[in-house]
Amino acid sequence: MLLVHLSPALGFISGAGVGDANNIRCLEGERQALLEFKKGLVDDSGSLSSWGRKKNCCDWEGIHCSNQASHVLELKLAYYGLQGMIISPSLLELPYLTLLDLSGNDFNGSHNWLVVVSGIPTFLGGICTLIKLDLSENNLNVKLVDVINNLSGCAKDSLEILDLSSNQLAGSLRNFAIFPRLKEIYLGSNNINGTVPRSIGNLTKLEHLDISSNSFRGVISEDHFSNLSKLQFLFLFNNSLALEVSLNRILPFQLDKLHLSSCKLGPRFPKWIRTQRKVSFLRISHTNISDTIPADWFADLPHTLEFLDLSSSQMHGRLPKVSTKRLNGLAIILSDNRIKGPLPLFSTNLTILNLSKNQFSGSISSICKINGRSLTYLDLSDNLLSGQLPHCFMHWDFPPFPNQQANRNVRSRSNASHLRKLLILNLAGNNFTGEIPSSFGSLSQLHTLNLRNNSFSGELPLPLKNCGLLKFVDLGNNKFSGSVPAWIGEGLPQLNILILRSNKFGGSIPLNLCWLKYLRILDLSVNNISGTIPQCFNNFTAMAQKGDLFSGIIGSNYTDSYVYDYDDTEEFINDATVIMKGRELEYGKYLGLLKIINLASNKLTGKVPSEISSLLELVVLNISRNKLIGEIPQMIGQLKQLQSLDMSRNQFSNEIPSSMSELHFLSDLDLSYNNFSGKIPSGTQLQSFDAVDFTGNWALCGPPLPNKCPGEETPDQSDQPTDHDGNEDNDKDGDEFEKWFFAAAGFGFFIGFWGICGPLLLKSSWRGAYFLFLDNMKDWLYATKLAMCMKRLRWKFKNQG
Ligand SMILES: *[C@@H]1O[C@H](CO)[C@@H](O)[C@H](O)[C@H]1NC(C)=O
Ligand SMILES: *[C@@H]1O[C@H](CO)[C@@H](O)[C@H](O)[C@H]1NC(C)=O
Ligand SMILES: *[C@@H]1O[C@H](CO)[C@@H](O)[C@H](O)[C@H]1NC(C)=O
Ligand SMILES: *[C@@H]1O[C@H](CO)[C@@H](O)[C@H](O)[C@H]1NC(C)=O
Ligand SMILES: *[C@@H]1O[C@H](CO)[C@@H](O)[C@H](O)[C@H]1NC(C)=O
Ligand SMILES: *[C@@H]1O[C@H](CO)[C@@H](O)[C@H](O)[C@H]1NC(C)=O
Ligand SMILES: *[C@@H]1O[C@H](CO)[C@@H](O)[C@H](O)[C@H]1NC(C)=O
Ligand SMILES: *[C@@H]1O[C@H](CO)[C@@H](O)[C@H](O)[C@H]1NC(C)=O
Ligand SMILES: *[C@@H]1O[C@H](CO)[C@@H](O)[C@H](O)[C@H]1NC(C)=O
Ligand SMILES: *[C@@H]1O[C@H](CO)[C@@H](O)[C@H](O)[C@H]1NC(C)=O
Ligand SMILES: *[C@@H]1O[C@H](CO)[C@@H](O)[C@H](O)[C@H]1NC(C)=O
Ligand SMILES: *[C@@H]1O[C@H](CO)[C@@H](O)[C@H](O)[C@H]1NC(C)=O
Repeated sequence: MLLVHLSPALGFISGAGVGDANNIRCLEGERQALLEFKKGLVDDSGSLSSWGRKKNCCDWEGIHCSNQASHVLELKLAYYGLQGMIISPSLLELPYLTLLDLSGNDFNGSHNWLVVVSGIPTFLGGICTLIKLDLSENNLNVKLVDVINNLSGCAKDSLEILDLSSNQLAGSLRNFAIFPRLKEIYLGSNNINGTVPRSIGNLTKLEHLDISSNSFRGVISEDHFSNLSKLQFLFLFNNSLALEVSLNRILPFQLDKLHLSSCKLGPRFPKWIRTQRKVSFLRISHTNISDTIPADWFADLPHTLEFLDLSSSQMHGRLPKVSTKRLNGLAIILSDNRIKGPLPLFSTNLTILNLSKNQFSGSISSICKINGRSLTYLDLSDNLLSGQLPHCFMHWDFPPFPNQQANRNVRSRSNASHLRKLLILNLAGNNFTGEIPSSFGSLSQLHTLNLRNNSFSGELPLPLKNCGLLKFVDLGNNKFSGSVPAWIGEGLPQLNILILRSNKFGGSIPLNLCWLKYLRILDLSVNNISGTIPQCFNNFTAMAQKGDLFSGIIGSNYTDSYVYDYDDTEEFINDATVIMKGRELEYGKYLGLLKIINLASNKLTGKVPSEISSLLELVVLNISRNKLIGEIPQMIGQLKQLQSLDMSRNQFSNEIPSSMSELHFLSDLDLSYNNFSGKIPSGTQLQSFDAVDFTGNWALCGPPLPNKCPGEETPDQSDQPTDHDGNEDNDKDGDEFEKWFFAAAGFGFFIGFWGICGPLLLKSSWRGAYFLFLDNMKDWLYATKLAMCMKRLRWKFKNQG
């Protein structure tokens, strides 16, 4: 009470003190109207605490008044963490309100959406001055037609911008033609269905139309567009829409941004797209265009173009010269098509070039002509390219701009992307031969180098150690030789992933490798490496710490800088493959969680250092097919995340430590062909594996092996779980495994077997649930845990009941 009495006085004093410059003081009627409006809101975070505290409502948070008459013009309360409902029609008392922005009141980022409005009350439609209404990201769960109806008061004649994106609006798109002045419509990411009515074509002032990520179906034809001559921004992607425009028809607008991905556009490449000469952002991937590459268009791309994505269609033919007159770079993404022939000349500055998954062939020497100053991503993977790499990468490295110039450039452009350098180089899956050119050492910003699945040979060149920012190196399946270079440890301190699998590397594992504290995947398998496993492997601290699903290593955002004002970021994700259960599995975005050591199929000798059991988050440990001796480290039970352990075909001896039965997530175990002895530790754990996982150890006994331990009497032999899980487990493909993994590593299982399985088993219809619930992440957790529990239990029941 005291505050209420005091605050007008304080407001008056401060207002008077500031003088002329702040002469804008709000009108009492409007002030009361705002306070009334606030009453309907729940403002837990106190965002609107200034409301009422100061006398002058033009000074309140989110309020903008007009300079002359002190009327409230704008109410901008975006991302204020507000809850509640707009119940009071008091906003009608703001006779000059032009902008109402209540978007994104989910700023907490939690999934407990904070609902600002449960609908759009009719009185909002009665604000005759309203020009812009932004209610995006508010969890509005009503029908679009009802919203339109409620806005059909006098506001229908003033509205120009309407943003209802990222809600849960349902129903169909109708009646929009009642807003004759509308310039911008944003309805993206809702549940709107049905067709797009032709009456949208009556909105002749329309400049921005975004209906992406809804459930629209049917056809949009040239008739829809015939009167939309002002359109600049057209986002229709991620619907089931077909765009049918007669092949030679030219549409009446010149777009700036066009995003039609996953619309049906084919089979021919539409001419109207080629006549867009002012376009900067053009994304038409997954469109089922099965035409030849439009050569004349590529030879003269619009000079405004910054981002061109024609990926994942069936474009074929040869890519001719790509040319545009443009100082800043152009991103070209033509991946996943059927383009043949040699790489063309690029007579343009490039920022991104992604030609992966095509049938390009021949040498890549033409890339030397690319101006490397602006190129950041070069992805030529999975083509038929061959020959040696050219020695021209030093031309791709430019000394930094002299300070002054750099500053001027950065200041004068919001987007300094043309100053960046190569970050990603992916040449995997071709038929390249010869050595890595020493000029790779000039690629000082590189963070991803993927040369997997080629026929590269020779030693790794020393200058490569200058690429000190490398995080991801995959050289697997080549013919590299020489020793694993010691300089990797000093020179590439940022390495997260090092894959040298299936080469001809010899020598021993250099101790310097232990400097790589960020290393999460070390794969040296299938080489000729000898010597011992260094004790210092416990220096791989990243393998002892929890993974981060979103850890930066893997990605770099790229589209965001091209869509500027539009929030559409995408991450490039490195894929690495992991060999498990004899199959190669690909990990997309979950790679960040994997912790793997694979040293299989080498000539390693000596003991497994006990230090390895301090890598607490290890998921896969494969040291099979070496000449290792000694015993399994006693503390192995600490590796609670271990999912796959393969020590087969070595000369390990002694008993299997009982702590192994604490590895609750071990689903893949192979200890065969060693000299293990004694009884296999009993529990719910090790007995659920096949006997073959233990064979070839003549002195080993007890279930699941058929031979009993001396002095033990097991009454029934028929209970051998020989076909444990049969199809169910073998059916697991990479995807399934990924889910499993995500569940396991993402949530950290520290609870014991019954802690995990007990509650799950209360659900009876588990099998139905398994499939039904695969939909969302929470339920992966359930389903995958359940599958594993069932496996363990089935064995238990078989043997005990
Ligand atoms: C975000 O939401 C969580 C749970 O809903 C809550 O505990 C937390 O305090 C919220 N944070 C903010 C900044 O409101
Ligand atoms: C329309 O307005 C009425 C009256 O203000 C309100 O009860 C209803 O919830 C609104 N409908 C929608 C869909 O916003
Ligand atoms: C849209 O324009 C057409 C043709 O001019 C007209 O017949 C129709 O009534 C208009 N629709 C609306 C909703 O105004
Ligand atoms: C649109 O979705 C609603 C449910 O939200 C459904 O009842 C209706 O049949 C759908 N309409 C079309 C044309 O698919
Ligand atoms: C386009 O405008 C013309 C003339 O203004 C009108 O005759 C025609 O009906 C309009 N078409 C649509 C689809 O609104
Ligand atoms: C496509 O739309 C669906 C909903 O219709 C949404 O769940 C999904 O995230 C969208 N995908 C993309 C790539 O925007
Ligand atoms: C893609 O186009 C081909 C013909 O060019 C057609 O047979 C196929 O059904 C189309 N696929 C989709 C998903 O539209
Ligand atoms: C590429 O950029 C450089 C400046 O870095 C400029 O001199 C050159 O003209 C550009 N090339 C093209 C083809 O636009
Ligand atoms: C290139 O395109 C492929 C297929 O569309 C995609 O998987 C890959 O991530 C892209 N590469 C880059 C560097 O963005
Ligand atoms: C790779 O190149 C070699 C010769 O350099 C050739 O013998 C081999 O067939 C090629 N492999 C493929 C898959 O093209
Ligand atoms: C462990 O790594 C640090 C640098 O991260 C290094 O200084 C130290 O020598 C390494 N220890 C061993 C035993 O290699
Ligand atoms: C990509 O962008 C998102 C949001 O803008 C950000 O949170 C994330 O860290 C970025 N990722 C990288 C690798 O920069």
